[in-house]
Amino acid sequence: MITARDARAPEGAGALWDVERIRKDFPALHQQVHGKPLVYLDNAATSQKPQVVIDAITAYYALENSNVHRGVHLLSEQATQAYEGARARVQRFLNAAESREIVFVRGTTEGINLVAQSYGRASVGAGDEIVISAMEHHSNIVPWQMLCAEKGAVLRVVPIDDAGELRLDEYARLLTERTKLVAVAHISNALGTVNPVKGLIELAHARGVPVLVDGAQAAPHLRVDVRDLDCDFYVFSGHKTLGPTGIGVLYGKAGRLERMPPWQGGGDMIASVTFEKTTYNALPYKFEAGTPHIAGVIGLGVALDYLSGLGLERVAAYEQDLLAYGTEALRAVPGLRIIGTAKEKASVLSFVLDGVHAHDVGTILDHAGVAVRAGHHCAMPIMQRFGVPATVRASLAFYNTREELDALVAALHEVRGIFG
Ligand code: ALA
Repeated sequence: MITARDARAPEGAGALWDVERIRKDFPALHQQVHGKPLVYLDNAATSQKPQVVIDAITAYYALENSNVHRGVHLLSEQATQAYEGARARVQRFLNAAESREIVFVRGTTEGINLVAQSYGRASVGAGDEIVISAMEHHSNIVPWQMLCAEKGAVLRVVPIDDAGELRLDEYARLLTERTKLVAVAHISNALGTVNPVKGLIELAHARGVPVLVDGAQAAPHLRVDVRDLDCDFYVFSGHKTLGPTGIGVLYGKAGRLERMPPWQGGGDMIASVTFEKTTYNALPYKFEAGTPHIAGVIGLGVALDYLSGLGLERVAAYEQDLLAYGTEALRAVPGLRIIGTAKEKASVLSFVLDGVHAHDVGTILDHAGVAVRAGHHCAMPIMQRFGVPATVRASLAFYNTREELDALVAALHEVRGIFG
């Protein structure tokens, strides 16, 4: 096994990565749990927040607190500027063509439900088909099941192979004249597989089918360029991307969003209201009914700028090094099987330990200070596909270190010692 001491420094961008300096920006990383230094390896569930994000949220509530798009007073104007400024930051982060293509939602789940309820209810009929993959999170399965049940449509599922890679031959076969949408994860939260979304989109578009990409696990780990991908919709969550909980983003191509009916009704999404008829606001406000999560939006904007400031390419290079190091180290643990061995992987180490339930592993790791997720990861069909009830998942971020992976492996050896 390579140890942190004798391991080579990460090559390329990683060699310049001052992880100790970066860690200073994250107050939550510097604490003890159960009397041990915290090793936070549950980043796919939610990321920690840099101080600049915490400060931006505090400053909004302390000094600028006011509603947006409504007041004529100075505080409201300032809040509106900060809110719309954050939309421009998201636009830059995704390289979207226009800021009106950025819709604020509560998170990835709400973004997908918006598309299912708006685009889906308007465009999907009996006998039509929605194509998803076998590695989707429940949030990219259930909204489509609900839509299919309502409309008499059919959910088609692209299978995956034993490594956790999409069966591309099956994908091509499932795209037919009945397909109304493809909805697919950019990166699997349970396996770490990076899907070849650009190619999937090209193939779908060649058959006139729009594509939604679930970017919840990708936005924190690699550069997303929605114009390069040419996706029709892209969704991600703030809280996994260094930002606050309760805020997320739906990107949609302007022309497509224009043609979609609103989903929720209320204030701000209207142009005029009488009891006889309501006309709707322009994009993106048509999809933002009610007072939005203003502090969340402001915090998200700062979070994305922080991430961009680090450089997504450098983040990805450093995390790839950690992933390779962690994969090799885990393989040395007796009876450990990694679930998800795709060639293109990012930041997720999912595994099972012979004879020990994942929850027991997770609990013992917690007492060693190591925070992981144990369970089905809101992706029960993947567990079924691999014939396991649950896995232990260590998920990495750019502020993790090789030493932390050594602590994980040492704690797993303890588990082995207890269970034999
Ligand atoms: N979707 C999050 C995860 O995979 C909560 O852990």
